[in-house]
Amino acid sequence: MASEIRLDHRVAIITGAGAGLGRSHALAMAARGAKVVVNDLGGHVDGSGADKSAADHVVDEIRAVGGEAVANYDSVATPEGARAIVQTAVDAFGTVDIVVNNAGIIRFKKFMEHTPEDFAANLAVHLSGSFYMCQAAFPIMQKKRYGRFVFTSSSGGLRGGADGVAYGAAKAGIMGLAFVMAHTGAPYNVLSNVILPNAYTRMTEAMVAPRNVDKLSPEFISPLVVYLSSEQCSLNHEMFACGGGTVARTIIALAPGWRAASKAELTPEAIRDHLSEIMDMTGYANPQSAEEETRLVVGRRQK
Ligand code: NAI
Repeated sequence: MASEIRLDHRVAIITGAGAGLGRSHALAMAARGAKVVVNDLGGHVDGSGADKSAADHVVDEIRAVGGEAVANYDSVATPEGARAIVQTAVDAFGTVDIVVNNAGIIRFKKFMEHTPEDFAANLAVHLSGSFYMCQAAFPIMQKKRYGRFVFTSSSGGLRGGADGVAYGAAKAGIMGLAFVMAHTGAPYNVLSNVILPNAYTRMTEAMVAPRNVDKLSPEFISPLVVYLSSEQCSLNHEMFACGGGTVARTIIALAPGWRAASKAELTPEAIRDHLSEIMDMTGYANPQSAEEETRLVVGRRQK
């Protein structure tokens, strides 16, 4: 059997680690030897409020079992906040090796009830926050030629669902950000992967039946986060759906499609008539870059 996965001498920042999934990731990473920055604003699930005790409590939990952790209370939603979070890691532990972009909020509302402020607030925490964290941490990782980013997306972004347009749009954006980071970081051994978790937390408590609470413990998600954060992981540009014990690769697939022989042949009626070929996923591809997708789509030879 391969050796145990350890994070000794690694410095990990977990955003939104004062509760739910982030707390579980922080405990799991500290248990594997990582020095952990427990970042959390300590707000309500809708993004309002702030309370330092959320992050402090998790730091206490880690220290109580002999782990190393410090708290940070800044918001990921501003560039200054993200820089301060990274600075906390540098001040306390000298560097940063791992960033788990986990902080999140949600406002369950019907599509037409979403205000511009609701939309902006979701984008600010999930998408801008992940971007600011990457920009703050990447130069350090680039210089040392080592780093791991784990991004937290959602099936609400990849697949869509009712009542969460701002959340879904922000979570879909995170996939695009992660893919760009995967390309940006690859030459420097800075790897980026995405999780799409399913877990019982305060964010999902209204959606989970009491009988499923234990089955959907955040502890079913954190082992994947530890693996993706580790030196033993060489995956990059990947996404994993997870929850309740399942860990499954998920992709954005491209069908072979149908190609018209000429401009004249490419009519709305021809699309209707070739719909079965256009929709057929047999022999799909999973392009790893925009260039690869363009090559496959535009350069595809006629069948
Ligand atoms: P949670 O509400 O328990 O945890 C989110 C944490 O982020 C909170 O402690 C909160 O204070 C913190 N936070 C919010 N805004 C922040 C900011 N601006 N700066 C720093 N910290 C901030 O919810 P949960 O479920 O643990 O969510 C963790 C992540 O997982 C979120 O990104 C969420 O969208 C995502 N997710 C969760 C799913 C689930 O089934 N629980 C499903 C899909 C995605």
